[in-house]
Amino acid sequence: MPKNGARSVAKNPEPRTRRPEPSAQNLAPRTLLITGGAGFIGSNFIRYVLDSHKDWSVVNFDKLTYAGNLENLRDVENDSRYTFLKGDIADRAVVGAALSEHKPQCIVNFAAESHVDRSILDASPFIEANIRGTQVLLEAARAHPVDRFLQISTDEVYGALGATGVFTEESPLLPNSPYSASKAAAELLCRAYWKTYGIPVVITRSSNNYGPYQFPEKLIPLMIGNALRGEELPVYGAGKQVRDWIFVEDNCRGIERALLAGQLGEAYNIAGSHEMCNLDVVEAILRILRGLTGPTTKLPGVKFISDPRGAAHDFRYSLTTSKARADLAWEPFTSFEEGLTRTVTWYMGHREWVNAIVSGEYRAYYKMMYGESDTHSMPEKT
Ligand SMILES: NC(=O)c1ccc[n+]([C@@H]2O[C@H](COP(=O)([O-])OP(=O)(O)OC[C@H]3O[C@@H](n4cnc5c(N)ncnc54)[C@H](O)[C@@H]3O)[C@@H](O)[C@H]2O)c1
Repeated sequence: MPKNGARSVAKNPEPRTRRPEPSAQNLAPRTLLITGGAGFIGSNFIRYVLDSHKDWSVVNFDKLTYAGNLENLRDVENDSRYTFLKGDIADRAVVGAALSEHKPQCIVNFAAESHVDRSILDASPFIEANIRGTQVLLEAARAHPVDRFLQISTDEVYGALGATGVFTEESPLLPNSPYSASKAAAELLCRAYWKTYGIPVVITRSSNNYGPYQFPEKLIPLMIGNALRGEELPVYGAGKQVRDWIFVEDNCRGIERALLAGQLGEAYNIAGSHEMCNLDVVEAILRILRGLTGPTTKLPGVKFISDPRGAAHDFRYSLTTSKARADLAWEPFTSFEEGLTRTVTWYMGHREWVNAIVSGEYRAYYKMMYGESDTHSMPEKT
């Protein structure tokens, strides 16, 4: 353990039972079991993998919670290399049957309850899916050995920074919300299963993703949707919280690199190295929308609302990515301006996708968090 008490990733693992370890160069996955593939990042990753690796197949294992949407993968559903299985990662029998039938070489675990605000309303689903679900998957990987178990984690496990400082992979895990605590617990289980049973675990910790197919409750799509509907843009507190933003495709490449070249037992920060406070993000969205729709378009203003996260609203996250750059030969390619323009353009062109989501459960949730507004459909045109 380093003197400062920082959690160290496995430097000298001595697992008790383990398969002969494939070197990164020899890792030749043919079938990937991707959990949570119907969500935002998972669906982008599946599309990226099928595009980039013609000899890889994907089994998408997803419970289809409110955040899971098979419409995200409509364009690949007839690809012979793609299979969808509806299932819960916390269900031992179903997970075991999936591994036994499809015999994947790799598991990539995206499946999670992922929204901090929902974890503050009720932590229980986060414990069940994020912690118990990950443990069930790890147990399943003991019974049905795989060459890689890639755990998708988050920068939120480190807790918050003040105006200065940066998290390295050696920083202590100090999560502040039930969501980030559940993700930290899942990671620690992964580490323990590597040390104890030799499950070949690699972890990625990414910063805030944005891009196509993100569920409309998250900051960027929520603001784009409201702006297109002409509704005020609800910003928590003074909107001064700082996040590092990464375009989802850059994260997908980082995950692929970690899968192929990551050292077992290690964690890798994956970030866009572009820090912005929430209010500046909202203003950038309005500026881009104005550019795309014309200067005469009337766009709504910002509405500052009281912060439901209270003291648990982390002020700032910042990550160094030097380890991923050096060891995985990875770097982000997409500037924030380019990524955000592509994202706004995508949402403008996919109003039916948004409209199908923003009915039902989401509508009740929005009302509870942000108040009124009965009309959540996007207009056909702006
Ligand atoms: N979005 C981000 O900015 C971000 C940043 C860092 C890390 N992450 C992590 O990346 C992963 C994916 O995030 P996302 O934004 O795509 O989330 P998302 O909420 O869009 O998707 C989560 C997916 O997991 C599925 N799922 C949930 N519980 C499940 C269960 N018990 N069994 C099977 N499937 C289940 C859902 O149906 C959904 O398809 C999560 O693990 C999240 O913690 C996200």
